[in-house]
Amino acid sequence: MAKTRKTYVPPRVEVLSSLAMQKHRTVDISAADSGFDDVGDVAALLAEFGSPLYIVSEKSLRSLFRNFRDTFTAPSVETVVAYSYKTNYLPAVCSILHQEGAWAEVVSGMEYDLARSLGVPGERIIFNGPYKRSDELARAIADDALINVDSFDELDLLTAVADSLKRSARMGLRINFQHGRQSWTKFGFNADSGDATEALHRVKKAGRTLRFEALHNHSGTFQVNPDIYARSAQVLAGVAKKARELGLSPHIADFGGGYPSSNRLKPAFEPAGGVAAGQHLAPFAEAVIGGIAKSRKAFGDRPTVVLEPGRAVVDAAMKLACSVVARKSISGQGDAVIVDAGVNLLPTAYWYDHGVDAASGSDLDAAIGSKPVAVFGPLCMQIDVLRERAILPPMSIGSPLVVSNVGAYCLTQSMQFIQPRPAVVLVGPKGPELIRRGETREDIFALDKVPTRLKFRITGR
Ligand SMILES: Cc1ncc(COP(=O)(O)O)c(C=O)c1O
Repeated sequence: MAKTRKTYVPPRVEVLSSLAMQKHRTVDISAADSGFDDVGDVAALLAEFGSPLYIVSEKSLRSLFRNFRDTFTAPSVETVVAYSYKTNYLPAVCSILHQEGAWAEVVSGMEYDLARSLGVPGERIIFNGPYKRSDELARAIADDALINVDSFDELDLLTAVADSLKRSARMGLRINFQHGRQSWTKFGFNADSGDATEALHRVKKAGRTLRFEALHNHSGTFQVNPDIYARSAQVLAGVAKKARELGLSPHIADFGGGYPSSNRLKPAFEPAGGVAAGQHLAPFAEAVIGGIAKSRKAFGDRPTVVLEPGRAVVDAAMKLACSVVARKSISGQGDAVIVDAGVNLLPTAYWYDHGVDAASGSDLDAAIGSKPVAVFGPLCMQIDVLRERAILPPMSIGSPLVVSNVGAYCLTQSMQFIQPRPAVVLVGPKGPELIRRGETREDIFALDKVPTRLKFRITGR
């Protein structure tokens, strides 16, 4: 009988932290805080609402918001937290944050309309972004929204629209400055080149047509170093002083968003020196409020400080639950599972090491046998990898898994690609409530038309 030889698979050495395998819980080796734990039985939610499923925790969302607002509150300033809609504009999510007192920070007419339809008054909307159409500007002017102007062309357009309406536009200027290689200089007026000063002159010249109130800066996203906000305060104060020399009276310093969430960047995206574990918001608040305090009344006696957080208030409030659909042992690579949620639902998997855990309710004893497993999505693409290496107990077909910290940019940047997008459930004081139903094939193709001449028929060829 011919001897069958087994292919040699070299042993792998895995670095596991001491927390990787606890007796009662399976902990992902490299994901930071895995977010909330108050949604109850994930397997039961999947059974009721289908798999995959986005799950929002109302309690967690409210507490993240309150914590953010309280951290940035100080007696010397009026604090306004304007939630960045694009981060996650599920209407139920925005509504919860508005109940907590958030203003709306919007960057398109579509987002502006959503905020108004949810009952947000115009005066509590901040309209940002590099492209605002004249009809959108007209509506924002009429509603007294705060419009942060991005370019000289937009300044001219705003002035013309306000003139034609015979109304004054409540406005600010977005400011940028150079800070290393990845400065967000696409947006606004540069503080160092003279553009910001030129914009102030043009605002002054527009007279009563423009009601100049604010200077805005947003220097990037997932900022891990608070120093950038201290620098931002310095730059905004410098421009505010110039404005005062011209007789203008800015009273709002808007620091944009960019505050980190408890997600973890993949090593390739980590800034030099790494990311401090468990970053707290306090140093960011200190940089902002302390920076404004140093500005010697450039923004008046009691400045309004606006913060536009996105990820810091929603990321940890949402999870993506999914189910194992196949298991593999890949030669030379180790174990893998395929789940029913792909990177089309988790675009942030390209730059974060999201926590991927067995859902609560799995067999705890099985956790003892946990080991590194690659977690792939269901898309017919090699890049569909949710996590290269998660620590998981033995999986069966149908085992539920939970991906954490998916509240920011996952849903708004998700796409129907090969698979439709799933339902979203809100777990709140009344138990689980459906806040978005899953898409169907009909939803996806509802906009399409096939010209009659292209109707399929068998031609015999
Ligand atoms: C102007 C502005 N404000 C706020 C945000 C929210 O940023 P983050 O989610 O990083 O807090 C962004 C995101 O890019 C932005 O461009």
